[in-house]
Amino acid sequence: MNNYLVITGASRGIGKATAKLFVSEGYSVINLSRNQCDIDGVINYSIDLADSEWPIGFEAELIKPLQQADRICLIHNAALLLKDSIDSLKAENLRKVCEVNIVAPQRLNRLILPSMKPQSSILYIGSTLSEKAVGNSYSYTLSKHAGIGMMRSNCQDLVGKQIHTAAICPGFTDTEMLREHIGEGAENSLQLAEKVTQKRLIEPQEIAKTLFFCSENPVINGAVIHANLGQVES
Ligand SMILES: NC(=O)c1ccc[n+]([C@@H]2O[C@H](COP(=O)([O-])OP(=O)(O)OC[C@H]3O[C@@H](n4cnc5c(N)ncnc54)[C@H](OP(=O)(O)O)[C@@H]3O)[C@@H](O)[C@H]2O)c1
Repeated sequence: MNNYLVITGASRGIGKATAKLFVSEGYSVINLSRNQCDIDGVINYSIDLADSEWPIGFEAELIKPLQQADRICLIHNAALLLKDSIDSLKAENLRKVCEVNIVAPQRLNRLILPSMKPQSSILYIGSTLSEKAVGNSYSYTLSKHAGIGMMRSNCQDLVGKQIHTAAICPGFTDTEMLREHIGEGAENSLQLAEKVTQKRLIEPQEIAKTLFFCSENPVINGAVIHANLGQVES
């Protein structure tokens, strides 16, 4: 089988762990991010998804090998997380967050869909903030809610095509994004782990395995998958 993974944001974190797993499962992996994914065999396109104009020729080059693929898994993983709220979020920052978290995924959907054969999949990385809100994460929360709406709409628009879609919503996962958001330091991680019923952070590899399972199982379609180790409700 000539299987392809196209993933955004595999230069580190959840995306990198996912690229590694799919490579080990025999997939050809294409990563789109500003920095490279340093896993052997991964094809990298250096691209800033916040740019409304993508480099000339990029789209044609990206889809060339995909036209021969037996199956494609497209994972919308890259995201921009800013600290903002109703009284601080500026229009230009909202546009930037939407460009990375909402517009780029749809540009890729439209570009890659014609090459997708049955058993292909489109997976969105959501968040616990896809379905609830906390303070000071306004643009991220609204974009993650939008991701669920995109996934549900995709499921309806793809009736009969045998392409499945899901949103996988990680909880606190030990990556740079989380550390940047809460501040470095073991104390901060421990405080966060207290909010998880299993009292620990998630490893990126655990989310990678969940994504691989969803990609291989079309019974998961139109679904929101909570992958958060159980969060303590307060
Ligand atoms: N970590 C958590 O606790 C957690 C919880 C819930 C959901 N999530 C979600 O999981 C996904 C992965 O996050 P992570 O924790 O693995 O974060 P991470 O380690 O910070 O990785 C983020 C990835 O997104 C890419 N990216 C960001 N802005 C980009 C841009 N403008 N253009 C291209 N690529 C861009 C980065 O690549 P470059 O910098 O190389 O461009 C990087 O590879 C995100 O959707 C996030 O919202 C994470």
